Amino acid sequence: MSDDDALAFTGSLIHLRQHVSPKRLAEPGPSAPQLRLIFEAAAAAPDHGLLVPWRFVLIPPAMRATLGEMFAAALIERDATASDEQLADARAKAQRGAVLLLCVADLSARDPNTPAHERLVSLGCAIQNMMLTAQAMGFGAGLSSGQGMASEALRHGFRLGNGEIAVCFVSFGTVTSAKPRRQRPTPDEFVTTLGGF
Ligand SMILES: Cc1cc2nc3c(=O)[nH]c(=O)nc-3n(C[C@H](O)[C@H](O)[C@H](O)COP(=O)(O)O)c2cc1C
Repeated sequence: MSDDDALAFTGSLIHLRQHVSPKRLAEPGPSAPQLRLIFEAAAAAPDHGLLVPWRFVLIPPAMRATLGEMFAAALIERDATASDEQLADARAKAQRGAVLLLCVADLSARDPNTPAHERLVSLGCAIQNMMLTAQAMGFGAGLSSGQGMASEALRHGFRLGNGEIAVCFVSFGTVTSAKPRRQRPTPDEFVTTLGGF
C-alpha cells in the first residue's frame, strides 16, 4: 500500500474523528448488531498479558433515570448544598446521547507484569477502536467524564469491584450539528529523537 493509500485508508477515520458532545448525538444510534461490531473492535485493542483489563456497561433507555439519580447523588456527595436547578442539570445529563455506556478499567494487581498505566492504555485503545468503528458506520461519538466518576454513587450504582475505576462515558449517535474540527498538535510538538536533545 502506498503512503497515500495508507492515509486514505486510515486518515478518513482517524483525522475526521472529532469529539461530539452527547447533547448533539441523537437517535438513531447504533443498532444491537452494530453495537456488537463496535464491541468486537474494542476486543482488538492491544492488551499486554491478555488480561482484558476493562469492561463496558450499557445504559439502556429504561435505566437513564436511574443513572440520573446517580449523577444527582454524586453531586450531593461533593456539594451538599447543591440547588434544585443544579440537581436537575445533573439528572438531565443522563438522558443525552442515543447510546450511552460506561468504560470501566480494572487496575487491581492481579498481574504484576502489567501495571495500571498499561491497562489504562489498553482501555484507551479499545475506546478509540470503538469510536472509529462507530464513525465508519456513520455515527458520531463523544467522551464525557467529570468529578462524579469517582463518586460512591457511581461506584455503588455500577457495582464496581475493588480495583475497578469508572474512567469515562462514551456516547454514540447521529450527529445533529458538527463543530469545526480543532487544530491538532503537529508532530514537532510531541516527537523528539533520542540523542537530539
Ligand atoms: C478520558 C476522557 C474523558 C473526556 N471527558 C470529556 C468531558 O467530560 N467533556 C468533554 O467535553 N470532553 C471530554 N473528553 C473529550 C475531549 O474534550 C476531546 O477529545 C478534546 O477536546 C479533543 O477534541 P477531539 O477529540 O475532537 O480531537 C474526554 C476525553 C477523554 C480522553
